[in-house]
Amino acid sequence: MKLHYPLQLIATIFALLSVSSSANAQSGENTYKQVCANCHGAGVLNAPKFGDKAKWAPLIAEGQVTLTAHAYFGVRGMPPKGGNPNLSIEGFSDALVYMVNNSGGNWKSPDAKTIAAINKEIEARKAGMNKK
Ligand code: HEC
Repeated sequence: MKLHYPLQLIATIFALLSVSSSANAQSGENTYKQVCANCHGAGVLNAPKFGDKAKWAPLIAEGQVTLTAHAYFGVRGMPPKGGNPNLSIEGFSDALVYMVNNSGGNWKSPDAKTIAAINKEIEARKAGMNKK
């Protein structure tokens, strides 16, 4: 009995890890479909279109922290939080990961450290706007 316990524990941890990573992929896709696809599906207002690798390449090159922060904050025709005030930074990030990974990129759901860096960049944007 004692020997089985650690194996079961490891199996449980692996099961939890795989559930949580597929849950992220799932919610990123759902958020994309519910929020972002309205504009990014058809390229409304010149939004970079889902799957358009040429349009996404220079954006992806800005890096995950910069691009996620600027888009969440809002930039030109892109409304803050994708126009959904209830959308968390985590939910927004996962929707963007889903869009990027279907448009030539290979990003991961941001970990706590990356989320912190994104929040810091958003604060920097806010501070920059307030100076004007
Ligand atoms: C109301 C329409 C609309 C919705 C909804 C929307 N976007 Fe956008 N988005 C735009 C437009 C328009 C642009 C192009 C902005 C520009 O360059 O003028 C854009 C640009 C972007 C960019 C590039 C920003 C940059 O730095 O150039 C990202 C990233 C992005 N959107 C992510 C998202 C995500 C993720 C969602 C869903 C959570 C979303 N958008 C929902 C209209 C929308």
